[in-house]
Amino acid sequence: MRRYFILMLIVVAGFLFVNFNIADNNIPQEEVKTEKPQYHVPDDVQQIIDNSCYGCHNSESKNEKGKKKLQFDKMSDLKTYKQVGSLADIADVVTEGDMPPEKFLKKYPERQLSKEEQEKLVSWANNLAKQLTPED
Ligand code: HEC
Repeated sequence: MRRYFILMLIVVAGFLFVNFNIADNNIPQEEVKTEKPQYHVPDDVQQIIDNSCYGCHNSESKNEKGKKKLQFDKMSDLKTYKQVGSLADIADVVTEGDMPPEKFLKKYPERQLSKEEQEKLVSWANNLAKQLTPED
């Protein structure tokens, strides 16, 4: 009788051990699943921004109006809904050809967005805005 008892204990202990291990293994997977999408700029998009937008739209910009409207270097600090709002604005102004400003382009024609750059910037902004928008 006593031997059975000990055997049972070993079986139960073994069962618990296995269970805990399975539970442990599950934790990282849950984390991956629930991880929130983050503000992210791929290198090729960052290059376009650096060339045509960043000079006016950063937290140290001398262009006070531009700085007030948008700061690319502070985007990741913003609340998600503000990031989404800024991304929508970026897609809008770039689609409309409103940015960079005309006056600026007269002085620096090489900062003009090519068709390809324009499309890349807009699709980045739209896709990221979509990813950052909660589904419910
Ligand atoms: C020469 C400086 C300059 C450059 C370069 C520039 N901007 Fe702007 N941007 C401004 C200014 C100034 C404003 C504010 C305009 C206003 O208030 O009428 C502005 C406003 C904006 C806004 C806000 C629009 C709104 O309706 O609120 C967005 C978005 C924006 N810029 C995106 C961009 C992007 C994207 C680029 C690069 C493709 C860019 N800007 C390049 C100066 C600049």
